[in-house]
Amino acid sequence: MALLEIRNLNYSYKDGDGKRVIFDNAEAEFDSGLFYAILGESGSGKTTFLSVIAGQDNRYEGEVIFNGKEIKSIGLDKYRRTAVSMIYQNYNLINNYSAVENIAVAMDISENVKGLDKGKIMSVLEELGIDEKKANRKASSLSGGEQQRVAIARSILTDSPIIVADEPTGNLDSKNGQEVIEIFKKLAREMNKCVIMVTHNDKLAEDCDFIYRIDEQAKKIVR
Ligand SMILES: Nc1ncnc2c1ncn2[C@@H]1O[C@H](COP(=O)(O)OP(=O)(O)OP(=O)(O)O)[C@@H](O)[C@H]1O
Ligand SMILES: [Mg+2]
Repeated sequence: MALLEIRNLNYSYKDGDGKRVIFDNAEAEFDSGLFYAILGESGSGKTTFLSVIAGQDNRYEGEVIFNGKEIKSIGLDKYRRTAVSMIYQNYNLINNYSAVENIAVAMDISENVKGLDKGKIMSVLEELGIDEKKANRKASSLSGGEQQRVAIARSILTDSPIIVADEPTGNLDSKNGQEVIEIFKKLAREMNKCVIMVTHNDKLAEDCDFIYRIDEQAKKIVR
């Protein structure tokens, strides 16, 4: 049994009087310890797919099965607080909170974390190249690459088995982008995370263990 299985996924948006089908009986599965890329043209449904597997969108038919249980039966709230964390292209930090405060807020919401260990927050941040001074500055005063490292530290510290990233390198230069990819590889290989990254960039996907592509014509996810 895979960590996360998607079976018979059907998804469509209302589009004026009609509907626009994004997935038609799509299937995919994901396991711990692997770094996945999801490729697809703009508008093919990558963000839609991530929203579904991150428990942020319940307007799907079919099954999203985490550890053998359909996530709606787990409860999407609970699933989000225990199973999955999200990394975005625009980092999504609270601008006027420090890096440490941003992480503390997320740890507070996560059901995986008991108590706030500031030493642990600092040690993860330091490992990702954020020193104590930067960690205590407002998030908005950090560079894009630094903000994305803070967002990654936040995912690590909420201790979710699945990390989902939507174009995480989209706003970064190639050096910072490559560094983010190296961090994701480590999260999969050394921390046994299931890392699922959406990207436009075929080149970035080469570093992944497994590539899925969204087939816009068939409305399926293919390998
Ligand atoms: N709320 C909505 N109502 C109607 N159509 C929508 C809605 N949200 C998204 N869509 C459409 O669904 C399609 C898939 O959108 P999605 O954001 O998943 O694409 P994407 O693959 O992430 O694209 P990009 O690479 O540009 O981010 C697009 O054509 C989009 O216009
Ligand atoms: Mg998108």
